[in-house]
Amino acid sequence: MGKKSFILISNGNYRMVTKCIYLWINNNFYTIINIKKAEGGLVMKIKTFKVEQWMNDFENDAIYNLGETCIDSMTLGELIELSGYKPEEYLSSLKDKRMTYSHIYGSPEFLKGVSDLYKSIKPEQVIPTHGAVGANNMVILSMIEPSDNMISVMPTYQQHYSIPESIGAEVRILQLTPENKFLPDLDLLRSLVDENTKMITINNPDNPTGSWIPEKEMMEIVEIAKSVGAYILSDEVYRGISEDGSYMTSIVDLYDKGISVGSMSKIFSLAGLRMGWIASRSEEVFKACLERRDYDTISCGVLDDLFSSMALLNKEKIFDRNRNILLKNRAILDQWVQETPEVHYIKPVAGTTALVYYDNKMPSYDLCVKLLSEKGVLFTPGSCFEMEGCVRIGYAFDSKTLRDGLDKFTEFLREI
Ligand SMILES: Cc1ncc(COP(=O)(O)O)c(C=O)c1O
Repeated sequence: MGKKSFILISNGNYRMVTKCIYLWINNNFYTIINIKKAEGGLVMKIKTFKVEQWMNDFENDAIYNLGETCIDSMTLGELIELSGYKPEEYLSSLKDKRMTYSHIYGSPEFLKGVSDLYKSIKPEQVIPTHGAVGANNMVILSMIEPSDNMISVMPTYQQHYSIPESIGAEVRILQLTPENKFLPDLDLLRSLVDENTKMITINNPDNPTGSWIPEKEMMEIVEIAKSVGAYILSDEVYRGISEDGSYMTSIVDLYDKGISVGSMSKIFSLAGLRMGWIASRSEEVFKACLERRDYDTISCGVLDDLFSSMALLNKEKIFDRNRNILLKNRAILDQWVQETPEVHYIKPVAGTTALVYYDNKMPSYDLCVKLLSEKGVLFTPGSCFEMEGCVRIGYAFDSKTLRDGLDKFTEFLREI
Protein backbone atom coordinates (compact mmCIF):
# COMPACT_ATOMS: atom_id res chain seq x y z
CA MET A 1 0.00 0.00 0.00
CA GLY A 2 1.49 3.36 -1.12
CA LYS A 3 1.42 6.33 1.18
CA LYS A 4 -1.21 8.98 0.70
CA SER A 5 0.39 12.05 -0.86
CA PHE A 6 -1.01 15.45 -1.63
CA ILE A 7 -0.02 17.41 -4.69
CA LEU A 8 -1.24 20.94 -5.12
CA ILE A 9 -1.32 22.01 -8.71
CA SER A 10 -1.54 25.76 -8.91
CA ASN A 11 0.30 28.76 -10.25
CA GLY A 12 1.25 29.66 -6.69
CA ASN A 13 -0.32 33.03 -7.25
CA TYR A 14 -3.80 33.00 -5.75
CA ARG A 15 -5.66 34.34 -2.78
CA MET A 16 -9.07 32.81 -3.03
CA VAL A 17 -9.74 29.26 -4.14
CA THR A 18 -13.10 28.83 -5.75
CA LYS A 19 -13.08 25.18 -6.65
CA CYS A 20 -11.17 22.11 -5.59
CA ILE A 21 -11.13 18.80 -7.40
CA TYR A 22 -10.03 15.73 -5.40
CA LEU A 23 -8.69 12.74 -7.25
CA TRP A 24 -7.93 9.30 -5.87
CA ILE A 25 -5.60 7.55 -8.29
CA ASN A 26 -3.61 4.41 -7.53
CA ASN A 27 -4.06 4.85 -3.83
CA ASN A 28 -2.75 8.42 -4.00
CA PHE A 29 -4.89 11.37 -3.13
CA TYR A 30 -4.42 14.39 -5.43
CA THR A 31 -5.96 17.80 -4.93
CA ILE A 32 -6.23 19.98 -7.98
CA ILE A 33 -6.94 23.57 -7.20
CA ASN A 34 -8.82 25.35 -9.90
CA ILE A 35 -7.64 28.92 -9.81
CA LYS A 36 -9.65 30.18 -12.74
CA LYS A 37 -11.53 32.66 -10.62
CA ALA A 38 -8.74 33.42 -8.18
CA GLU A 39 -8.69 36.95 -6.88
CA GLY A 40 -5.76 38.65 -8.67
CA GLY A 41 -3.32 36.28 -10.31
CA LEU A 42 -3.61 35.38 -13.92
CA VAL A 43 -7.14 36.42 -14.65
CA MET A 44 -6.70 40.21 -14.49
CA LYS A 45 -6.08 42.14 -17.69
CA ILE A 46 -3.58 44.95 -17.83
CA LYS A 47 -4.95 48.41 -18.64
CA THR A 48 -4.12 50.22 -21.86
CA PHE A 49 -0.81 52.05 -21.55
CA LYS A 50 -2.24 55.47 -22.30
CA VAL A 51 0.89 57.44 -23.12
CA GLU A 52 2.37 54.75 -25.36
CA GLN A 53 -0.99 54.27 -27.10
CA TRP A 54 -1.22 58.00 -27.72
CA MET A 55 2.26 58.06 -29.26
CA ASN A 56 1.54 54.94 -31.36
CA ASP A 57 -1.61 56.55 -32.74
CA PHE A 58 -0.43 60.09 -33.40
CA GLU A 59 3.37 60.46 -33.41
CA ASN A 60 3.73 60.04 -37.17
CA ASP A 61 1.21 62.81 -37.94
CA ALA A 62 3.17 65.57 -36.25
CA ILE A 63 4.99 68.46 -37.90
CA TYR A 64 6.13 69.78 -34.51
CA ASN A 65 6.75 66.73 -32.35
CA LEU A 66 6.74 67.93 -28.76
CA GLY A 67 5.56 64.57 -27.48
CA GLU A 68 9.10 63.18 -27.60
CA THR A 69 10.86 62.61 -24.24
CA CYS A 70 14.38 61.75 -25.41
CA ILE A 71 17.06 64.41 -25.70
CA ASP A 72 17.55 64.95 -29.45
CA SER A 73 18.51 61.41 -30.57
CA MET A 74 22.00 60.86 -31.96
CA THR A 75 22.87 59.12 -35.20
CA LEU A 76 25.15 56.13 -35.01
CA GLY A 77 27.78 58.08 -36.96
CA GLU A 78 27.63 60.90 -34.39
CA LEU A 79 28.18 58.46 -31.52
CA ILE A 80 31.10 56.75 -33.25
CA GLU A 81 32.73 60.04 -34.18
CA LEU A 82 32.23 61.53 -30.73
CA SER A 83 33.96 58.42 -29.36
CA GLY A 84 37.05 59.15 -31.45
CA TYR A 85 36.61 56.69 -34.35
CA LYS A 86 36.08 57.20 -38.08
CA PRO A 87 32.51 56.00 -38.71
CA GLU A 88 33.18 54.21 -42.06
CA GLU A 89 36.23 52.37 -40.71
CA TYR A 90 34.52 51.49 -37.47
CA LEU A 91 31.35 50.24 -39.13
CA SER A 92 33.25 48.12 -41.63
CA SER A 93 35.23 46.55 -38.76
CA LEU A 94 31.93 45.21 -37.43
CA LYS A 95 31.17 43.01 -40.43
CA ASP A 96 32.89 39.96 -38.94
CA LYS A 97 31.04 40.22 -35.66
CA ARG A 98 29.11 37.02 -35.10
CA MET A 99 25.42 37.66 -34.55
CA THR A 100 24.99 35.16 -31.76
CA TYR A 101 23.54 35.95 -28.32
CA SER A 102 25.36 38.71 -26.52
CA HIS A 103 26.98 38.17 -23.09
CA ILE A 104 24.05 36.73 -21.18
CA TYR A 105 24.66 38.92 -18.12
CA GLY A 106 25.96 41.92 -20.11
CA SER A 107 29.50 42.58 -21.38
CA PRO A 108 32.12 43.57 -18.77
CA GLU A 109 32.38 46.97 -20.50
CA PHE A 110 28.64 47.61 -20.24
CA LEU A 111 28.43 46.49 -16.60
CA LYS A 112 31.42 48.63 -15.64
CA GLY A 113 30.03 51.63 -17.55
CA VAL A 114 26.71 51.39 -15.74
CA SER A 115 28.25 50.77 -12.31
CA ASP A 116 30.34 53.93 -12.78
CA LEU A 117 27.09 55.93 -12.81
CA TYR A 118 26.66 55.07 -9.11
CA LYS A 119 28.83 55.40 -6.01
CA SER A 120 28.06 52.05 -4.43
CA ILE A 121 27.19 49.68 -7.26
CA LYS A 122 29.59 47.00 -8.45
CA PRO A 123 29.46 45.71 -12.05
CA GLU A 124 28.03 42.42 -10.77
CA GLN A 125 25.09 44.30 -9.27
CA VAL A 126 23.80 45.41 -12.69
CA ILE A 127 21.28 43.50 -14.84
CA PRO A 128 20.95 44.58 -18.50
CA THR A 129 17.39 44.68 -19.84
CA HIS A 130 15.43 45.51 -22.97
CA GLY A 131 15.09 49.21 -22.24
CA ALA A 132 13.87 50.69 -18.97
CA VAL A 133 10.46 49.39 -19.95
CA GLY A 134 11.91 45.87 -19.63
CA ALA A 135 13.60 46.78 -16.35
CA ASN A 136 10.47 48.15 -14.64
CA ASN A 137 8.47 45.18 -15.83
CA MET A 138 11.08 42.74 -14.57
CA VAL A 139 11.41 44.32 -11.13
CA ILE A 140 7.68 44.55 -10.49
CA LEU A 141 6.79 41.10 -11.82
CA SER A 142 9.69 39.51 -9.95
CA MET A 143 9.06 41.17 -6.61
CA ILE A 144 5.34 41.89 -6.19
CA GLU A 145 2.70 39.36 -5.17
CA PRO A 146 -1.09 39.71 -5.06
CA SER A 147 -1.08 39.97 -1.26
CA ASP A 148 1.29 42.98 -1.32
CA ASN A 149 0.50 46.62 -1.59
CA MET A 150 2.63 48.99 -3.59
CA ILE A 151 2.78 52.78 -3.38
CA SER A 152 3.17 54.68 -6.62
CA VAL A 153 3.50 58.38 -7.24
CA MET A 154 1.06 59.86 -9.75
CA PRO A 155 1.58 61.30 -12.35
CA THR A 156 4.31 58.94 -13.48
CA TYR A 157 5.09 56.33 -16.13
CA GLN A 158 2.06 54.04 -16.13
CA GLN A 159 4.03 50.80 -15.73
CA HIS A 160 4.49 51.70 -12.07
CA TYR A 161 0.83 51.42 -11.18
CA SER A 162 -0.76 49.34 -13.93
CA ILE A 163 1.61 46.36 -13.78
CA PRO A 164 1.18 45.75 -10.02
CA GLU A 165 -2.55 46.26 -10.40
CA SER A 166 -2.63 43.63 -13.17
CA ILE A 167 -1.04 41.13 -10.78
CA GLY A 168 -3.79 41.77 -8.27
CA ALA A 169 -1.66 43.76 -5.83
CA GLU A 170 -3.22 46.75 -4.13
CA VAL A 171 -1.87 50.01 -5.54
CA ARG A 172 -1.95 53.08 -3.32
CA ILE A 173 -1.47 56.38 -5.11
CA LEU A 174 0.76 59.11 -3.77
CA GLN A 175 -0.61 62.08 -5.70
CA LEU A 176 1.88 64.76 -6.69
CA THR A 177 0.35 68.23 -6.86
CA PRO A 178 1.41 71.58 -8.30
CA GLU A 179 0.85 73.09 -4.82
CA ASN A 180 3.70 70.89 -3.56
CA LYS A 181 5.82 71.52 -6.68
CA PHE A 182 5.07 67.93 -7.74
CA LEU A 183 7.20 66.58 -4.88
CA PRO A 184 5.92 63.72 -2.69
CA ASP A 185 3.95 64.80 0.36
CA LEU A 186 5.86 62.90 3.04
CA ASP A 187 3.04 62.93 5.62
CA LEU A 188 0.72 61.43 3.02
CA LEU A 189 3.34 58.79 2.23
CA ARG A 190 3.64 57.96 5.96
CA SER A 191 -0.11 57.45 6.12
CA LEU A 192 -0.12 55.16 3.05
CA VAL A 193 2.50 52.60 4.09
CA ASP A 194 1.84 49.60 6.32
CA GLU A 195 3.33 46.17 7.03
CA ASN A 196 2.09 44.86 3.66
CA THR A 197 3.83 47.57 1.66
CA LYS A 198 6.37 45.70 -0.43
CA MET A 199 7.57 48.57 -2.56
CA ILE A 200 7.40 52.33 -3.01
CA THR A 201 7.95 53.41 -6.59
CA ILE A 202 9.04 56.86 -7.66
CA ASN A 203 10.22 58.40 -10.90
CA ASN A 204 13.14 60.70 -10.17
CA PRO A 205 13.35 63.03 -12.10
CA ASP A 206 9.68 62.70 -12.83
CA ASN A 207 7.99 62.23 -16.19
CA PRO A 208 5.80 64.24 -16.92
CA THR A 209 6.29 67.04 -14.35
CA GLY A 210 10.07 67.53 -14.50
CA SER A 211 10.27 67.61 -10.71
CA TRP A 212 13.26 66.15 -8.92
CA ILE A 213 13.36 64.98 -5.32
CA PRO A 214 16.46 66.38 -3.61
CA GLU A 215 18.64 64.12 -1.44
CA LYS A 216 17.25 65.42 1.89
CA GLU A 217 13.67 64.46 0.98
CA MET A 218 14.92 61.20 -0.52
CA MET A 219 16.45 60.32 2.86
CA GLU A 220 13.06 60.88 4.48
CA ILE A 221 11.42 58.59 1.93
CA VAL A 222 14.09 56.00 2.75
CA GLU A 223 13.26 56.31 6.47
CA ILE A 224 9.56 55.74 5.74
CA ALA A 225 10.36 52.71 3.56
CA LYS A 226 12.68 51.33 6.26
CA SER A 227 9.94 51.66 8.90
CA VAL A 228 7.94 48.96 7.06
CA GLY A 229 10.82 47.11 5.36
CA ALA A 230 9.74 48.20 1.86
CA TYR A 231 11.90 48.37 -1.23
CA ILE A 232 12.15 51.61 -3.19
CA LEU A 233 12.07 51.32 -6.97
CA SER A 234 13.35 54.55 -8.46
CA ASP A 235 12.87 54.92 -12.20
CA GLU A 236 15.90 57.09 -12.95
CA VAL A 237 15.84 57.19 -16.74
CA TYR A 238 16.04 61.01 -16.61
CA ARG A 239 18.79 61.08 -13.99
CA GLY A 240 22.12 62.55 -14.99
CA ILE A 241 21.86 66.15 -16.08
CA SER A 242 21.14 68.68 -13.37
CA GLU A 243 20.94 72.46 -13.70
CA ASP A 244 24.13 73.00 -11.66
CA GLY A 245 26.10 70.25 -13.43
CA SER A 246 26.16 67.85 -10.45
CA TYR A 247 25.26 64.20 -11.01
CA MET A 248 22.03 63.49 -9.12
CA THR A 249 22.14 61.04 -6.23
CA SER A 250 20.62 57.64 -6.96
CA ILE A 251 18.40 55.68 -4.60
CA VAL A 252 20.92 52.81 -4.59
CA ASP A 253 23.51 55.08 -3.00
CA LEU A 254 21.11 55.92 -0.17
CA TYR A 255 19.33 52.66 0.60
CA ASP A 256 20.36 49.00 0.53
CA LYS A 257 16.82 48.05 -0.53
CA GLY A 258 16.88 50.67 -3.30
CA ILE A 259 16.49 49.62 -6.92
CA SER A 260 17.54 51.97 -9.71
CA VAL A 261 16.22 51.60 -13.24
CA GLY A 262 18.19 53.36 -15.97
CA SER A 263 18.35 53.47 -19.73
CA MET A 264 20.29 54.60 -22.79
CA SER A 265 17.13 56.19 -24.21
CA LYS A 266 16.69 59.62 -22.66
CA ILE A 267 19.80 61.23 -21.22
CA PHE A 268 22.09 59.33 -23.61
CA SER A 269 19.88 60.06 -26.68
CA LEU A 270 20.12 56.44 -27.85
CA ALA A 271 16.60 55.02 -27.55
CA GLY A 272 17.14 52.95 -30.70
CA LEU A 273 19.57 50.74 -28.81
CA ARG A 274 16.75 49.49 -26.58
CA MET A 275 19.16 49.04 -23.66
CA GLY A 276 18.23 49.58 -20.04
CA TRP A 277 19.30 48.15 -16.71
CA ILE A 278 18.46 47.37 -13.11
CA ALA A 279 21.03 48.25 -10.44
CA SER A 280 20.62 47.17 -6.84
CA ARG A 281 22.67 46.13 -3.84
CA SER A 282 19.85 43.84 -2.71
CA GLU A 283 20.63 40.17 -3.32
CA GLU A 284 16.95 39.30 -3.07
CA VAL A 285 16.10 41.67 -5.91
CA PHE A 286 19.00 40.47 -7.97
CA LYS A 287 18.13 36.79 -7.60
CA ALA A 288 14.43 37.31 -8.28
CA CYS A 289 15.10 39.36 -11.42
CA LEU A 290 17.64 36.89 -12.78
CA GLU A 291 15.13 34.06 -12.35
CA ARG A 292 12.59 35.95 -14.45
CA ARG A 293 15.14 37.21 -16.96
CA ASP A 294 15.56 33.72 -18.43
CA TYR A 295 11.90 33.88 -19.43
CA ASP A 296 11.70 37.35 -20.93
CA THR A 297 15.16 38.55 -21.93
CA ILE A 298 17.85 35.83 -22.32
CA SER A 299 20.39 38.46 -23.42
CA CYS A 300 20.35 41.92 -24.94
CA GLY A 301 21.57 42.52 -28.51
CA VAL A 302 25.28 42.25 -29.37
CA LEU A 303 25.32 45.64 -31.12
CA ASP A 304 23.09 47.25 -28.52
CA ASP A 305 25.52 46.25 -25.80
CA LEU A 306 28.53 47.35 -27.87
CA PHE A 307 27.25 50.84 -28.68
CA SER A 308 25.86 51.34 -25.17
CA SER A 309 29.30 50.52 -23.76
CA MET A 310 30.81 53.05 -26.17
CA ALA A 311 28.35 55.73 -25.04
CA LEU A 312 28.93 54.98 -21.35
CA LEU A 313 32.68 55.30 -21.83
CA ASN A 314 32.15 58.70 -23.47
CA LYS A 315 29.33 59.86 -21.24
CA GLU A 316 30.87 63.22 -20.36
CA LYS A 317 30.90 64.26 -24.03
CA ILE A 318 27.29 63.14 -24.46
CA PHE A 319 26.22 64.92 -21.27
CA ASP A 320 27.93 68.14 -22.44
CA ARG A 321 26.07 67.95 -25.75
CA ASN A 322 22.79 67.22 -24.00
CA ARG A 323 23.15 69.71 -21.16
CA ASN A 324 23.39 72.49 -23.76
CA ILE A 325 20.22 71.30 -25.50
CA LEU A 326 18.29 70.87 -22.26
CA LEU A 327 19.17 74.15 -20.62
CA LYS A 328 18.70 76.17 -23.81
CA ASN A 329 15.32 74.61 -24.51
CA ARG A 330 14.15 74.82 -20.90
CA ALA A 331 14.82 78.57 -21.09
CA ILE A 332 12.85 78.83 -24.38
CA LEU A 333 9.91 77.02 -22.78
CA ASP A 334 10.07 79.18 -19.67
CA GLN A 335 10.16 82.42 -21.63
CA TRP A 336 7.14 81.28 -23.65
CA VAL A 337 5.19 80.43 -20.47
CA GLN A 338 6.05 83.85 -18.96
CA GLU A 339 4.89 85.62 -22.13
CA THR A 340 1.68 83.61 -22.63
CA PRO A 341 -1.09 84.51 -20.16
CA GLU A 342 -3.25 81.57 -21.31
CA VAL A 343 -0.86 79.02 -19.72
CA HIS A 344 0.93 78.41 -16.45
CA TYR A 345 3.16 75.69 -15.00
CA ILE A 346 5.54 74.61 -12.29
CA LYS A 347 8.90 75.15 -13.93
CA PRO A 348 10.64 71.82 -14.46
CA VAL A 349 14.01 71.51 -12.71
CA ALA A 350 15.12 68.26 -14.33
CA GLY A 351 14.16 65.66 -16.95
CA THR A 352 12.95 66.51 -20.43
CA THR A 353 9.25 67.29 -19.97
CA ALA A 354 6.92 69.80 -18.31
CA LEU A 355 3.26 69.73 -17.43
CA VAL A 356 1.69 72.91 -18.78
CA TYR A 357 -1.82 74.00 -17.67
CA TYR A 358 -4.02 75.89 -20.14
CA ASP A 359 -6.93 78.25 -19.45
CA ASN A 360 -9.68 76.43 -21.30
CA LYS A 361 -12.32 73.89 -20.31
CA MET A 362 -11.62 71.57 -23.25
CA PRO A 363 -10.53 68.08 -22.06
CA SER A 364 -6.84 67.53 -22.68
CA TYR A 365 -7.33 64.59 -25.07
CA ASP A 366 -9.73 66.55 -27.33
CA LEU A 367 -7.51 69.59 -27.19
CA CYS A 368 -4.44 67.60 -28.24
CA VAL A 369 -6.25 65.89 -31.13
CA LYS A 370 -7.61 69.24 -32.37
CA LEU A 371 -4.23 70.94 -31.98
CA LEU A 372 -2.52 68.20 -33.97
CA SER A 373 -5.05 68.24 -36.78
CA GLU A 374 -5.22 72.06 -37.05
CA LYS A 375 -1.62 73.08 -36.35
CA GLY A 376 0.48 69.91 -36.64
CA VAL A 377 1.72 70.22 -33.03
CA LEU A 378 1.98 67.02 -31.00
CA PHE A 379 1.73 67.29 -27.22
CA THR A 380 0.66 64.51 -24.86
CA PRO A 381 -2.70 64.93 -23.10
CA GLY A 382 -2.62 65.24 -19.32
CA SER A 383 -5.29 62.51 -19.31
CA CYS A 384 -2.57 59.98 -20.24
CA PHE A 385 -1.30 60.67 -16.71
CA GLU A 386 -4.74 60.88 -15.08
CA MET A 387 -4.43 64.70 -14.98
CA GLU A 388 -6.77 67.23 -16.58
CA GLY A 389 -6.52 70.79 -17.86
CA CYS A 390 -2.89 70.26 -18.82
CA VAL A 391 -0.59 68.83 -21.49
CA ARG A 392 2.86 67.31 -21.32
CA ILE A 393 5.42 69.12 -23.43
CA GLY A 394 8.65 67.35 -24.33
CA TYR A 395 11.10 70.20 -24.86
CA ALA A 396 14.42 68.40 -25.36
CA PHE A 397 14.29 68.11 -29.12
CA ASP A 398 15.62 70.79 -31.44
CA SER A 399 15.07 74.41 -30.45
CA LYS A 400 13.45 75.52 -33.70
CA THR A 401 10.74 72.84 -33.55
CA LEU A 402 10.12 73.82 -29.94
CA ARG A 403 9.81 77.57 -30.66
CA ASP A 404 7.61 77.05 -33.73
CA GLY A 405 5.41 74.47 -32.00
CA LEU A 406 4.88 76.74 -28.97
CA ASP A 407 3.98 79.69 -31.23
CA LYS A 408 1.45 77.52 -33.04
CA PHE A 409 -0.03 76.52 -29.70
CA THR A 410 -0.42 80.19 -28.68
CA GLU A 411 -2.21 80.85 -31.97
CA PHE A 412 -4.44 77.84 -31.35
CA LEU A 413 -5.30 78.88 -27.77
CA ARG A 414 -6.36 82.32 -29.03
CA GLU A 415 -8.57 80.80 -31.70
CA ILE A 416 -10.51 78.23 -29.69
C1 LIG B 1 9.84 57.25 -16.72
C2 LIG B 1 10.09 56.31 -17.85
N1 LIG B 1 10.51 55.07 -17.59
C3 LIG B 1 10.76 54.20 -18.57
C4 LIG B 1 10.61 54.54 -19.88
C5 LIG B 1 10.94 53.54 -20.96
O1 LIG B 1 12.24 53.82 -21.45
P1 LIG B 1 13.03 52.88 -22.45
O2 LIG B 1 13.04 53.56 -23.77
O3 LIG B 1 14.41 52.79 -21.90
O4 LIG B 1 12.38 51.56 -22.49
C6 LIG B 1 10.15 55.82 -20.22
C7 LIG B 1 9.91 56.20 -21.62
O5 LIG B 1 9.29 57.20 -21.94
C8 LIG B 1 9.90 56.74 -19.18
O6 LIG B 1 9.49 57.98 -19.42
